[in-house]
Amino acid sequence: LEKILLNGELVNRKIAIDIEDRGYQFGDGVYEVIGVYNNIAFKLEEHLERLFESAEKINMDIELTIKQLKEKVLKLKKENLLKDGLIYVQVTRGITRRNHAYLDNKIKPNLIAYVLHQNRLPSEVYQNGVPVILTKDIRWLRCDIKSLNLLPNVLAKQNAIEKGAFEAILYRNDNITITEGSSTNVFVIKDKTIYTHPANNYILNGITRQIILDICIKLNLKVQEIEFSKSFLLNADEVFISGTYIDIVPVSRVLGEDVEFTNQKSITFKLMKELNKLTMSI
Ligand SMILES: Cc1ncc(COP(=O)(O)O)c(C=O)c1O
Repeated sequence: LEKILLNGELVNRKIAIDIEDRGYQFGDGVYEVIGVYNNIAFKLEEHLERLFESAEKINMDIELTIKQLKEKVLKLKKENLLKDGLIYVQVTRGITRRNHAYLDNKIKPNLIAYVLHQNRLPSEVYQNGVPVILTKDIRWLRCDIKSLNLLPNVLAKQNAIEKGAFEAILYRNDNITITEGSSTNVFVIKDKTIYTHPANNYILNGITRQIILDICIKLNLKVQEIEFSKSFLLNADEVFISGTYIDIVPVSRVLGEDVEFTNQKSITFKLMKELNKLTMSI
């Protein structure tokens, strides 16, 4: 029987959520998704650190240490015999009588975690790349927080899937700047230099993004963490997206635009190979 983690205890999955849990009513909470490759929870500590940072940014106190949570998450993984897939962790501010303000600073946060058994994407995806759409970034101005409020991301991704694309790449309402994907970071390569949006309030600083930047340093590749435009992306040599468990996925084309990135994946493939070495998941 599937076990989940509920405030530090492993319990059966069927639990009751109070209708006044602020996560349920306001999306008042934060979350993380961790990839498990061949029994290894990849970069678990980095994900939990980001969870605590997100919580702190919304003035929420997780009543555990990172080390304690790490042990519990690993126990959850073991108990559910998760070999390949995802661990989802979320913390909501807790239960109060409905009011936008949370007033009482002593509300007890609710932490849940559960596992998703899941295979990795088929190898053709990594070989051939995926189509994407470009769509307007209508999110708030604190995208650095991994908040439960995902409605703009949900709508963007749904729009992409309905159009036959894998991901929606977002541009800000100045109509120019590419920020990131609905659940991925975006990299473009032009003249052997790798460009990605700076890690500020407009994007989530992906754990995969950070690993890729480390790999670039290791491989002596030139990186620019600067803003770039839609037309820069459309004129790039290579484009790829990154995220937990999908790792690096090459972009083959942008729907509705007359561009193909399929022929020149040399740097993307180099980075994919290095990342695969780390996740041990070729
Ligand atoms: C908006 C957004 N950007 C980027 C990412 C990629 O981050 P990570 O590599 O930590 O999974 C995610 C992850 O789901 C995301 O939701």
